[in-house]
Parts: sequence; C-alpha cells; structure tokens
Amino acid sequence: MEEHSALEAEIRRRIALGGPMPISEFMALCLLDPTHGYYTTHDPFGARGDFITAPEISQMFGELVGIWASAVWKQMGAPENVRLIELGPGRGTMMKDALRAVQIVPEFRSAIVVHLVEISPALRAQQEKTLEGAGVPLIWHGSLGDVPKGPAIIFANEFFDALPINQAIKTERGWHERRIQIDPSGQLAFTIAPEPMPFFQNLLPAALRAPRAGAVFEWRAETSAMDVGRRVADNRGAALVIDYGHTETALGETLQAVGQHAYADPLTSPGHLDLTAHVDFQSLARAVEAMGATGFGPIEQSQFLRGLGIERRAATLKARAARTTDIDEALERLIGRKRNAMGELFKVAAFTHPSVGTPPGFEN
Ligand SMILES: C[S@@+](CC[C@H](N)C(=O)[O-])C[C@H]1O[C@@H](n2cnc3c(N)ncnc32)[C@H](O)[C@@H]1O
Repeated sequence: MEEHSALEAEIRRRIALGGPMPISEFMALCLLDPTHGYYTTHDPFGARGDFITAPEISQMFGELVGIWASAVWKQMGAPENVRLIELGPGRGTMMKDALRAVQIVPEFRSAIVVHLVEISPALRAQQEKTLEGAGVPLIWHGSLGDVPKGPAIIFANEFFDALPINQAIKTERGWHERRIQIDPSGQLAFTIAPEPMPFFQNLLPAALRAPRAGAVFEWRAETSAMDVGRRVADNRGAALVIDYGHTETALGETLQAVGQHAYADPLTSPGHLDLTAHVDFQSLARAVEAMGATGFGPIEQSQFLRGLGIERRAATLKARAARTTDIDEALERLIGRKRNAMGELFKVAAFTHPSVGTPPGFEN
C-alpha cells in the first residue's frame, strides 16, 4: 500500500468520515496545520526556496513602504503612539527596510511599536533574527484581533493570497461547489458536489451570472478584510494591501501550487507546496469599506512604486553600487510588465479612516 505523509493521511481520514472536502479546508490544512502545514514548518523564501517576494527582491520595496507610512502618519495627525502592524511578515525583510528608511523621520520612528501578525513559528523565529536590534519595540501575535486598539498603520504584502478560497463550477444544472475526494484509483482528486447551490448566482455580479458550463468562480470569506476595515475605521488608521490579483470580481481559476519556483499539482504533496489564489480586490475592498473605511485603488504596483519615487531611489543606489545591473534587474522585476515581472500583475490598494485623506501614491 502507498505510504502517505501524516498530513495527507489526516486529509484522507477526514474525507472518508465526512465526504468530499471543501477547497478552503484543504488549503487551511496544507498551509497552516499546526504540526505539518507548509508555513508552520518551512521558511519558503529566496532563490533556493519556493518563491521570492518583492521585499526579498530589493530593499527599495520596504524602504518606499516605510516612507509611505511616515507620510500617512502625518496625515493621521502624527499620533504619539502608533502601531505599525504587518500581516504575514515572511522573513521580516520589508519591516526591517521600512524601519531603516524612516530614520529620516525621527518623530515617526519614536512613535512606533511594531506588531507582527504571524502564524508560523518557523517564520516568527526568522523575523526575530531579521529584526534584532531594530531599535523599536516588537510584539508578535497570532491574529490581528490580538493587537491592542489604537492608531494603526497596517501592511499586508502577499498575505491575502495565502488565505483559503472556495470554488464553484457552473454546470447545466447551476453552480456546484468544487471539493476534493479520493478517486477510484485512490488519488486525491477534484470533484463537484452533486447538488447545485440554490440562488448562488444571486451573489455574483450581474455580468457573471450566466456563464458557459465549466466556468469557475472563486471566493474568500473576507473575514480578515473585515478585521482590517474595523481597525482602520475604529482607530483612525490606514492599511496598505499589496498582492497579485484582479481589480474586479471575475470568473476564472487561479488556485495554484508552487514548490522550488515551479508550478505543481495542488493536490500532490499536501504541506510541501505553497497554495495561493489571486486576490479579488473588488470583493476585498467591499468588505473593508463595509466596516467604515475609505478605499483607494487598486492601482498597479508599477504605478504605486513609480509614484513613490522608486526610479530616483534606484539611481541613488546605483551611484553607490559596485554592480549596477543587480539594481536594474530588481527594478525591472518590481515595476516591469513582462512575464515574471510584478509591475502589472500586482495591485496596491489603500484604506484609511475617512478623516485621513488620500494617501501618497493614490492622488490620480
Ligand atoms: C507569501 S508569505 C508573504 C511574506 C511577506 N509579506 C513577504 O512579502 O515576503 C505569507 C505570510 O503570511 C503568513 N500567513 C499565512 N497565513 C496566515 C494567517 N492566517 N495568519 C497569520 N499569518 C499568516 C505566512 O506565514 C507568511 O509569513
């Protein structure tokens, strides 16, 4: 008999007991299972890891995010104490670069207490190392709800794409939830629930209600987006959300698995692959704004970083660098529009308390 990993055995046990598993449950187990989950056990970043994120590509990214926060803090009325909150800080690189950059605004830097919301013990340990000697108080939490109330600026770079999604498939009979089962050959495989979900189409934008059979629709619970909205609206705060995704709610299948910089089948090797899906920025913004926050964007990452002066920052770094090609390559990766570049695929949205006004980068 085939040997399964402990996590795959648990998934199979649940399917055997409860029937085909929703994709959100599968994703949550694969990414966050306390003993065997992908994030719980791995540090997946970097050239030798599974993927690379914008802060790991260049220091310019975190620096500009830091400068953005210092300007927003002034727009918030320069509160004496501000919580700088990061959701899913990865290796802590973005926060480190942001804190270094804001040394040029000492009043802001001395107002900061950093709150890192991280579920993975492996990455928490890495963040502690990266941020050692940062010179500001650092506090870790398991969820945003645990961060004490008060004025806050929240960052989330590639956080929302890691949150579980569900999928539905259109058939002649209606929209059916897609689930995961054990197929007759004994493999984990996608299936659909036998009965359609009554009135599901009423939840979709009018233009998406009657697509061809086989169309896929993905959605997230948006509870984390609502938490962000509440913090921003209740505590005179602001949030910056950067991720890959689409500006408007759309049909399409974007669930993907990545391991060692290559795409893989999401159902193989549970717990060993990064599972993500595009962020639906329209749905996310609706949830944040419903809590009383004002939304800006989404705009493309290239527009946001250009607006904050990334090209000038690159020129300054090049003037001091021994190898300028590295900086050119990083700049192209962050703001370029070619395949593998992030400039167009990644979007940036900001949310503020209604009194804060338009944040930097979103003026046009
Ligand atoms: C793709 S990484 C992005 C890391 C970092 N922001 C960057 O840009 O390099 C996703 C991060 O979110 C964390 N994470 C995923 N789901 C989480 C959850 N439900 N609560 C808290 N952190 C979570 C992961 O452990 C990881 O730190």
